[in-house]
Order: sequence, then C-alpha cells, then structure tokens
Amino acid sequence: MDLAQLTHDLAALAHDASAAVAEASDLAALDAVELDVLGKKGRLTAILRGIGSLPSDDRPNVGAVANTVRSGIEAAIAERRAGLAGTELVARLAAEAVDPTTPGRPFRHGSHHPSLESMAEIVRIFDRFGFVVLESPEVEDDRTNFQLLNIPPDHPARDLWDTLYVDLPNRLLRTHTSPGQIHAMRTFRPPIRVLLPGRCFRYEAIDASHASEFFQVEGLMVDEGTTMAHLRGLLDAFAHAMFGPAKRTRFRPGYYPFTEPSVAFDVECLICGGSGCPACGRSGWMTILGAGMVHPVVLRNGGLDPERYQGFAFGMGTDRIALLRHGITDLRVFLEDDLRFLEQF
Ligand code: PHE
Repeated sequence: MDLAQLTHDLAALAHDASAAVAEASDLAALDAVELDVLGKKGRLTAILRGIGSLPSDDRPNVGAVANTVRSGIEAAIAERRAGLAGTELVARLAAEAVDPTTPGRPFRHGSHHPSLESMAEIVRIFDRFGFVVLESPEVEDDRTNFQLLNIPPDHPARDLWDTLYVDLPNRLLRTHTSPGQIHAMRTFRPPIRVLLPGRCFRYEAIDASHASEFFQVEGLMVDEGTTMAHLRGLLDAFAHAMFGPAKRTRFRPGYYPFTEPSVAFDVECLICGGSGCPACGRSGWMTILGAGMVHPVVLRNGGLDPERYQGFAFGMGTDRIALLRHGITDLRVFLEDDLRFLEQF
C-alpha cells in the first residue's frame, strides 16, 4: 500500500458515495448508504486501515485527505436527508388529505319517551318555584301507601286503588306517589317544597285510558300559613306554562282521604278549546290532577304539628298529560315500545 494508491482509493470512495447519496430514493436507502460508507465496518474505515503501513511522513497527508472526504460525504448525506424528509412529509400529507367539504355520515339519535319528556317538563316548571325532586321507593308497605295517608285497612276509599301485592310480607307496589309525602315530611323540616316523580302500579284491566304501570308526579308544599290560594295560584301558573298562557282552569270539589278539602284541577280542553268534543266527553274540560290541603292526620303522621304547619299536595299522571299535549287518544301506544311511534318525538 502506498500513498498514491490510498489517495486514489479515497477519491474513488468520495465519487461513489456522492453518486449513491444522490440515488437514494428514500430515508431508509440513505441510511443504508451511510452505514455502508461511514459505518464502523464501512468502506472508509477499510481504506484507512491501510494508513498503518505507510511511511510515517506520509500519514498526516492521508489523514487530512481522509477527513476532507469524510466531512464531504457527511454533508452530502445530511443535505439529502433533509430533502428526502421534506418529500416524504409532502407525500404523507397528500395521502392522508381530508376533504372537509364531504358531507358527514348521518348520526342516529335516540329520543325521549313522550311520557318521560312530559315528566321532565313538569319538573322544569316546578323547579322555578323552588321545588326539589325527591325519589321515593316503588315497593312500599301497606302503612306508608295507605294507613299513614289516612286510609285504614277497611276504609272504602281503598277501592280507588286496586293494588298489586308482592311476594314479601306486607309489601306492595305503590299505587300512587303519595306515600312520598310521608317520606318527604320525615326527611325535611318545613318549609318543604318537593316534587316526587315516579312509576306507579295498579291492578287494572288495560284499555285505552288505563294501564297497570304509569307515571305520576306528586307535589308537596308545607309551611306556616300555607293556604288553598297558594295551591290555586301555583297550579294556574303550572297549567299556563305547560299548556299555554291563555288556557282557562278550574277547581272542582274532589275526594281523597289524605287531603281536606280535596279538589280536581281541570284545564280547558286542548282539542276543542272548551266547546266540547269526544276527547273531553263533551264537557269542554280535562282533569289533569287531584289536589288538596294536606289532612292534619297526615301532617301528624309526617311528624309535623298541624296547629303550626299547613300544606298542600297534588298528584298528576304524566302519561295522561303527554296524551293531552300530543293529541293522542290511546294510552297503550306508550307501552308498546314501537319505534315507529316513539321516534316521532
Ligand atoms: N294520589 C292521588 C291519586 O293517585 C292523587 C293526589 C295526590 C290527590 C295528592 C291529592 C293530593 O289519585
């Protein structure tokens, strides 16, 4: 090995390397070129191994040439690498391009059941008057569903609520949300303003206006100095928010063992506007709830002194209210889970 040979080899390597770098068509190919030329077992190292056999005077010369060749190749690789990275990015961006003008895929929405949707609307309206929602159990005992509400075991008023019993001693499915009044009075101190929404159960022959499962919302207010006028004003405000500000309303005498006096609250028929039609039995009115002043016995059963506190309560069937709002005449469509019906809401 002599000086001329080594210098020649280095020049040849520089030439080959620059061609290989220029030909590398992607980053992986360039990495391979780099390894082949500059790597530990690469071609430059192999050439430099020959330096050892040169006369010591020549060594610095070759060393200087070798360094120049190395840095030349390194610079070429770096430049090519930057160029290729840019090209690859451009190619990737083009391949992954998103067209923001393509229409989206249709998205299937669920919808609220009309009965629960009415319930939510009722809760929203009473919320403005400061009523808070309280959950109360669906399985009750006879005491809370009846006796504490002033309905003793042999009271004829029990006929109003055909009861489904469960296979546990003394347990039944609540026939109305009124037992929630007892829970509310025993949970909170006056002033009490609660709304008790929930599912109720009755042993009914099912027809267009009766179901064995239905939803009610109970309202209860108890405070000092609560009167029937408060009840009337609140229910009017509710009816106007729910059915329209111009709707006429009325109280009729009613009977419930747990309220005294008791009333039925009617709203002008939503369909005929009061002139009388089949939907309202030609009366021009629709009864939307039962209500009254909480009976002193019930207040006492709730742990409150009826000499000091008065209260009113009301209870409405939300399925019925949903029927009225949507002009539907058969309650059974609410229970059939037919999507063709339910998806309309
Ligand atoms: N619980 C009664 C019913 O189911 C409705 C009602 C509630 C009446 C509260 C008066 C007061 O028919």
